[in-house]
Amino acid sequence: MTHEEKIIEHLKTEKMLSVGELDCLLTTEDTETVEKLKAEARMAAQSVYGKQIYIRGLIEFTNYCKNDCYYCGIRRGNACAERYRLTEEQILTCCAAGYELGFRTFVLQGGEDPYFTDEKICGLVSAIKRAYPDCAVTLSIGEKERASYQAYFDAGADRYLLRHETADTVHYGKLHPEEMSLKNRMRCLRDLKEIGYQTGCGFMVGSPYQTTETLYEDLMFIKELGPAMVGIGPFIPQKDTPFGGETAGTLEMTLRLLSILRLMNPHVLLPATTALGTIHPQGREMGILSGANVVMPNLSPVSVREKYKLYDNKICTGDEAAECRFCMQRRMESIGYEVVTDRGDYRPAVYNK
Ligand code: SAM
Ligand code: FES
Repeated sequence: MTHEEKIIEHLKTEKMLSVGELDCLLTTEDTETVEKLKAEARMAAQSVYGKQIYIRGLIEFTNYCKNDCYYCGIRRGNACAERYRLTEEQILTCCAAGYELGFRTFVLQGGEDPYFTDEKICGLVSAIKRAYPDCAVTLSIGEKERASYQAYFDAGADRYLLRHETADTVHYGKLHPEEMSLKNRMRCLRDLKEIGYQTGCGFMVGSPYQTTETLYEDLMFIKELGPAMVGIGPFIPQKDTPFGGETAGTLEMTLRLLSILRLMNPHVLLPATTALGTIHPQGREMGILSGANVVMPNLSPVSVREKYKLYDNKICTGDEAAECRFCMQRRMESIGYEVVTDRGDYRPAVYNK
């Protein structure tokens, strides 16, 4: 057995690795090792979720944000961003179209927009759950007080996505203005988990100032938190942000990290993200073949797609929901996978089927 094979074996059996081993897997140029890593991750995903791919209908309902994250195209400081909010009616229309297309999870994502008070969010969530009781609602609306998270949960929200962005305090400080803190981000994630959400964390791959050491901290944090979902995708610069001139994360690094995350957390829901599809035309297919099991086609009205520009060259901004849905189905079938009409809940280790 080569050194690399031993690392992969160790990762598979112990679901753990050292920082040196991580560095080796991220930097090796031995294609056989990389193929083996991806194949093992693929098999780990299949042993829990089979060859079924869960789809989530993403509704980007507001691009107003009170935060000023240095990497993000909809940060409050970006005067070039054309702001919009969807009405409850528009959001419900997206859900209706999505339901017809076979979506059983709706992800409401947006900037931290004070216009959407807790009352409005609860109203939205309960309206969706009333109309589609067989669907899951995922929220991705940033950092809130515990009481707010509890209220959304009581209104029927099932899942919450809040990427931690980086588990290293110094690195976090380089990506965000002083008013934001890793401590609060982590508080939010723990509150969400305790309340009972299927909780998702995650980070951008290749964000400015990221190192193998910070990535290792990310992996250890994820292991400790035990989330139901982990969202990772390459950092892609957006020209009107402070990081507009930085280099994007790479396809290969993202794929290897997807595989490592899968092997460390075999049951986790792991999306092949739009950002991955943006840096390579087959990025999402490659993501699935590296151990991902979820895709999130866009359900937002085409009229606002162009405006939810977190990063440059984002794909699918001109496509109708149905086009995205069927495009995804074709893409998944082309690699031997099947898109399913299912809520696509997390299957914890105790799950027996
Ligand atoms: N406001 C919510 C939040 O903070 O969780 C949800 C929206 S936020 C735009 C969703 C995610 O987009 C962030 O967690 C971040 O990781 C990702 N993102 C932002 N800017 C990005 C960029 N330039 N490249 C890649 N991903 C980016
Ligand atoms: Fe708020 Fe990106 S800075 S969503």
